[in-house]
Amino acid sequence: MSKEQHYDVLVIGSGAAGLTLALQMAPHARIAVLSKGELTAGSTYLAQGGIAGVRDSADSTESHISDTLTAGSHLCRLDAVKHTVENGPGTIDWLIKQGVPFTKDSDGQLHLTKEGGHSHRRIVHAADATGKAISETLIQQAKKHHNIDLRSHAIAVDLITRRKLGLPDNRCIGAYVLNQDSGHVETYLAPFVVLATGGASKAYLYTSNTDGSSGDGIAMAWRAGCRIANMEFNQFHPTCLYHSQAKSFLISEAVRGEGGKLLLPDGSRFMHNFDKRKELAPRDIVARAIDHEMKRLGCDCLYLDISHKPAEFIRDHFPTIHAKCLEFGIDITKDPIPVVPAAHYTCGGVVTDTSGKTDIPGLYAAGETAFTGLHGANRLASNSLLECIVFASAAAADIIKHLDQHNTLAKAPFWDESQVTDSDEDVVISHNWDELRRFMWDYVGIVRTDKRLQRALNRVSLLQQEISDYYSNYKVSKDLLELRNLSVVAELIIRSAMLRKESRGLHHTLNYPSTLPEERDTILTPVNYDWREG
Ligand code: FAD
Ligand code: SIN
Repeated sequence: MSKEQHYDVLVIGSGAAGLTLALQMAPHARIAVLSKGELTAGSTYLAQGGIAGVRDSADSTESHISDTLTAGSHLCRLDAVKHTVENGPGTIDWLIKQGVPFTKDSDGQLHLTKEGGHSHRRIVHAADATGKAISETLIQQAKKHHNIDLRSHAIAVDLITRRKLGLPDNRCIGAYVLNQDSGHVETYLAPFVVLATGGASKAYLYTSNTDGSSGDGIAMAWRAGCRIANMEFNQFHPTCLYHSQAKSFLISEAVRGEGGKLLLPDGSRFMHNFDKRKELAPRDIVARAIDHEMKRLGCDCLYLDISHKPAEFIRDHFPTIHAKCLEFGIDITKDPIPVVPAAHYTCGGVVTDTSGKTDIPGLYAAGETAFTGLHGANRLASNSLLECIVFASAAAADIIKHLDQHNTLAKAPFWDESQVTDSDEDVVISHNWDELRRFMWDYVGIVRTDKRLQRALNRVSLLQQEISDYYSNYKVSKDLLELRNLSVVAELIIRSAMLRKESRGLHHTLNYPSTLPEERDTILTPVNYDWREG
């Protein structure tokens, strides 16, 4: 394969956002879609609960908008909320047209489930494995299209911008990409580049995310000169399975939506002490309540119990969760499920407008990587898949409009590997990975203080120096690239948290427990950060 490849559009990421964009552009342009793992890597494949959209006559657009704003502590951008919610029903129709097998009622209508913060049943789902259904369907469609080249195990290292090449404007013209099969970095050139790289929850020790959520797109955009917003709002999902061998497995909020109750170790309920919506309060409130009770009682987990429902209902609605828990000896038709909160979703990200455009010409961002303003201080459950598809569609439409104004003839120097050698100290990478994720969990987690944030900032600065030395001297690898990016997003999270002198939504600090009357985003601009070029 040539070391230099030319496309009309380079899409970095093969989740819901990346594949939607590719499929919508495919009749018009030649597209490369990269995934740093298998094509199913990322959070889309893991999504359980479903995708929100107004489908019931008793429900309304106004109600979905209002629930989104309430969950987001009124920090959401109204235009983004309206745009997303109004496009909800059409998005679900588009997915059905692609072939996504959503669950239906006995009368043939889409079954709608409920999740925290929603005042109506409006979550369309494929049992409890909605993401798998969406991911497999979109991949299948993309494979059929001759204009789409799907590249797995191809990890974008950095964006190529004209400014980096010493040219006058800062248009993005491509990316350097590590081909993990050959071990070499290749040059992908395209007049339009889309970051669809997912979130950054891997910055935390305990997370519901598996492969890849190391904030690569956010870090690359920052290094290239984009503004990054609201990184302090990292969402912690209240209920991940607590078991020594069950890393990262989520117990869907739909379990609570269908009547699951949260219990203390003595079997008593407690959510009524925190919010009148009890188990169906928005996620920030439920996660904080669980964290509070675990710390108060000094216990390792709490419990989620749905065993009062008929066993057949449980097996029908939650086949994946039922089977997974059984692997660990927990029969959810009879037993309460041990649960703990875990980092789940990045509400902040690369600042975009409603067409997905970033601050850099030619560079777009969509999905969890982007900050569209939809989620405010806390994302409403099942609004993420919706956001991915709505904003990827908007970005595709915008790129199509501008396609013929740009050609694919850009040039960039090849990646220079002449000054680096193979690493002889991989332990440095694994040690720094562990350290970073642990101090982020301990100091920048569900409850924060100024002192803890300062400690975290000191630690991340030291790590960045080591990582930067390492990056300059050794050949790049997936682990090194992810660590480098995580150290950038960790700093962005910490600095954003330090700038917010209030508690709002997902950002809760003991130094500023009240919410300020003024609603304001935290927007970081990449000036004077010399490490960003590293
Ligand atoms: P992802 O699906 O995360 O995909 C990211 C892609 O980028 C991957 O292909 C990855 O390989 C690629 N990538 C990353 N970095 C690079 C790089 N450097 N080079 C090349 N490729 C790269 N949301 C809902 O709305 N409803 C739900 O029910 C729901 N359930 C969830 C359950 C779980 C367990 C989790 C973790 C999340 C859930 N979410 C849910 C959130 C939602 O799934 C994600 O926010 C959404 O799928 C993100 O999609 P995306 O396309 O932005 O990114
Ligand atoms: C879940 O199923 O609980 C996840 C839903 C979401 O993250 O939106």
